Amino acid sequence: MKNRLALILCISLLLFAVSGCGKRVEDKEQFSPDEKIVLKFSHVTAENTPKGLAAERFAELVKERTRGRVEVQVFPNSTLYKDGEEIEALKSGAVQMIAPATSKLSGVFPLWQVFDLPYAFADESKVHQAMDGYIGSRLFEGLRQNNLHALAFWDSGFKVMTNNQKPVVHPDDFAGLSFRVMINSQVLKKQFEKLGAKPVEGSFDDLYRALESRTIDGEENTISNICSKNLFKVQPYITVSNHGYMGYVVLTDEKYWNGLPEDIRGLLESTLAEVTEWERQQALRMNREGMQTITASGAVQLHYLTDDEKSEWIQVLKPLYQEFEYIIGPDLIESVEELKNNN
Ligand code: SIN
Repeated sequence: MKNRLALILCISLLLFAVSGCGKRVEDKEQFSPDEKIVLKFSHVTAENTPKGLAAERFAELVKERTRGRVEVQVFPNSTLYKDGEEIEALKSGAVQMIAPATSKLSGVFPLWQVFDLPYAFADESKVHQAMDGYIGSRLFEGLRQNNLHALAFWDSGFKVMTNNQKPVVHPDDFAGLSFRVMINSQVLKKQFEKLGAKPVEGSFDDLYRALESRTIDGEENTISNICSKNLFKVQPYITVSNHGYMGYVVLTDEKYWNGLPEDIRGLLESTLAEVTEWERQQALRMNREGMQTITASGAVQLHYLTDDEKSEWIQVLKPLYQEFEYIIGPDLIESVEELKNNN
């Protein structure tokens, strides 16, 4: 009898532990009403970038609006996690927010390469239309299926080409040059191959060193990144090609998010929406001001592509749309084409 009672007790305790009673239930609210909530936000760019400033502004507003109950700790410059480590860190709960460039999501979510297609979007407003419409809904759905929750979509801007060898004006000028590409995007690799250059995948935190040591010749980036990382000091040739867009998805883990108290979730959402509007203005401003800094430095020979030169690039890069249709999907490619044709 005693043994049976002991056995029942053991089984009950085991079931209690396995069912998660006695500890926080993950899908329900994880926090007691007065408990302080610390949210780690890791990213790879400098503080003086649109993303860096927006993350800081978000942290300040959240602190003020929750009277210190929620603390967003921002870790810029890959100080916590670098390219290729961020998603895992988010999933494991080591951090609660990240904001990777969309290209870097492509390893896990290949559809995101739709944003890497060259000359896909005429300007930022087209990109935002894409995110707010069919393209965004398909992409966010994919994230949800993997327990990731997209909170916002931030701009970095349109990319230019930089290198240390010569002015790059026509597609032929790329021959023999090596270019760093962001990790995980096959479209970006192929883009450089089509242009006759050699793509070399690399993380953002290694980029300055790789360019300074001349391990690679060039790279593509937005002006705010080129300025904040001083890339222009080791890249004397810049072609203003605006050939591709770079943006960020502010991501959190779905379970973590659902475990936050509802009022806090609402406050974080509304604050992020406000910061997103602000961030997009910062991106425009910083790219504009960055260009002035670069011009004034006298360190760079700038070339702005003419319409005819741009047509040459478009011609060479156009086949990528068909070559990647089997990955990105005909529906998303069609949506991009529709956006191009609608004014
Ligand atoms: C970023 O803006 O987050 C990084 C861009 C890059 O890897 O070149």
